[in-house]
Amino acid sequence: MGDKELLQELEKLRGEINYHNYLYNTLDQPEISDDDYDQLFNRLKAIEAEHPEWISPDSPTQRSGASPLGKFKKVRHPNPILSLANGFGSQDAREWYSRILKLNPAVAEADYVLEPKLDGLTVVLHYEKGVFVLGATRGDGLVGEDITENLKTLPSLPLRIPVKPGFEAPDRLVVRGECLIFKKDFEQLNAKLEKAGERAYLNPRNTAAGSLRQLDPKITARRPLKLFVYQIVESSSPTPSTQLQLLTYLSNLGFPTNPLLWHAENIDEAIKICEQEGLERHNWPYDADGIVIKINDLQLAGELGFSGKDPRGALAYKYPGQEVETKLENIIVNVGRTGVLTPEAQLKPVNVGGVVVRQATLHNFDFIRDKDIRIGDQVLIKRAGEVIPYILASLPEKRDGSQLPYKIPTHCPSCGTLVEKDPEQVAYYCPNASCPAQLTRNVENFASRGAMDIEGLGEQIVAQLSKQGLVRSAVDLYKLKKEDLLKLDKFGDKKAENLLRAIEASKYQSLQRLIIGLGIHGIGEVAARKLAQKFGDLEMLGSASLEQLQEVEGVGPNLAKSVYDWFRVEANQHILTEFKTLGIWPIEQTPAASGPLPLAGLTFVVTGALEGFSREGIEAYILENGGKVTSAVSAKTNYLVLGADPGSKYQKALALKVPIISEFELRNLVENK
Ligand code: IVH
Repeated sequence: MGDKELLQELEKLRGEINYHNYLYNTLDQPEISDDDYDQLFNRLKAIEAEHPEWISPDSPTQRSGASPLGKFKKVRHPNPILSLANGFGSQDAREWYSRILKLNPAVAEADYVLEPKLDGLTVVLHYEKGVFVLGATRGDGLVGEDITENLKTLPSLPLRIPVKPGFEAPDRLVVRGECLIFKKDFEQLNAKLEKAGERAYLNPRNTAAGSLRQLDPKITARRPLKLFVYQIVESSSPTPSTQLQLLTYLSNLGFPTNPLLWHAENIDEAIKICEQEGLERHNWPYDADGIVIKINDLQLAGELGFSGKDPRGALAYKYPGQEVETKLENIIVNVGRTGVLTPEAQLKPVNVGGVVVRQATLHNFDFIRDKDIRIGDQVLIKRAGEVIPYILASLPEKRDGSQLPYKIPTHCPSCGTLVEKDPEQVAYYCPNASCPAQLTRNVENFASRGAMDIEGLGEQIVAQLSKQGLVRSAVDLYKLKKEDLLKLDKFGDKKAENLLRAIEASKYQSLQRLIIGLGIHGIGEVAARKLAQKFGDLEMLGSASLEQLQEVEGVGPNLAKSVYDWFRVEANQHILTEFKTLGIWPIEQTPAASGPLPLAGLTFVVTGALEGFSREGIEAYILENGGKVTSAVSAKTNYLVLGADPGSKYQKALALKVPIISEFELRNLVENK
């Protein structure tokens, strides 16, 4: 066969495989047997093996997972990936309706599409000439992370559209969807992990999110991730004018769309559906914490505009989390990084809305006392979407006399040292600075994403390293050898080499990250950055007086003392000397002055919950860009940055006619200056 024929065969195979893949994974209606599919696939692999130059990124053979990445690249979304306003119950839904009716009388004639509000992770998928070229997380709504290689491993994600003949893909198409794990798949995954003696995952959402943010796509490939697409973010061709047509259009192109949806002629019908169908939601195959009510007419929806970051044309009708009763079998005590002891409930496994719950948080020991929670009690637990299940109350009427009040441990469960209590705080803690549990937590913190970001060094590996006596403090990480790692569970050459490489790379992290990694009590991202900027290296920071430390913005007497004390602990001094010898001694460069910063001279107040920033994060962002943040609105305030569910600052800003902007507008202010 000549090259031309072979190339034709290859193209045909790819089309066929994509189509059968779609029938199998998206429609769940295979037309050929697995064996026949494998034959097609193997033939394609054989041709590609002969002609590696013909392998294209959209070939079905390229799903299995590319090589690990160092870091995710940032991706700017073509349009902001907005959020949704929440409503709880029919009253909120009616109020939403009245608000939009006032804005546009045409709303009176509107019909609605209702879709389950999937509890997964938003993804944004880019297609150029029908080929999947880029996939990103939502990030802050403006900028996400490039997770293309991970997304390619999702069996139902089309690598090339249209999948079916007879439809035409636009030159450029960007769609939005939700990645999730079905409840059944989640249970299976956990059962497998438990059998292998590994720690089970908490809930499908976190597992889905974690799986997509793996730097090694091969790990993502092993997770049972599903996808549903529901929005067009951008298209080079005209797009359908209603949500119903849009879903059909996307489905025709080969995208998986959620088969569960409802159509309502008016708001009353929509609300009725929410009320009735909500009762069924625990039987849906995935977690959903509500139903999204969308105006079907997309032009009308668009004309309604936005309120902050929420499009006015849609509302998330949310259900409260589910509560169930089970037995509290035991209370175990975890020792945190700073020695604080926290209780954790071990429950008789119970199904809550399709997910088996085994543990729950108990907050602190006062909570156990105040709620009179006893081991052996029947307890009421609540699980709502993303949050870790927690105990609401015990049911004393169900006691049989075998339950005894819980006694706060007198000794550390890890090292046996007598526990102490800070008279001013609720916390009990282990005062032993070389307590193995604390050391392990410290190393975990050091390696974590927010600190030195050592990929592949998670909790379980740190626990093993500590158990083997290989690592007692962060500096020991840099002394690890390949032979050491090979002694660990499931460590082969490759994994050991990767980890060593990641550890080596972390030597060059910034001073800010190293300060976070030290685990000084109370020092997070923002304080670490300011300390790094002011003192420039660990030497200067360590020799700073309490007064000098307090000169740093945001560092009060407590934080200053915490830093000061840390540097005066002998064991910590040793660690610093070792860091220096190892060459881990980052120096903070003072930024070269290059004209005024974009927010110079402006004063901001922030209120409400933000989408893309934590509270500390936005304050740091404003400060970094030369602005000032104050806590109260006054006539001197230049802007109020408004988030969801704002407080009284919002009213005050309205009254004083202070300009109100969203976090998106704030970013524009910075970037377009
Ligand atoms: S529509 C402009 N539909 O819920 C339209 N969102 O709390 C905005 N979500 O970030 C989104 N299922 O990622 C829409 N059927 C659905 C959804 C859905 C889940 C997510 C979405 C959004 C979040 C808002």
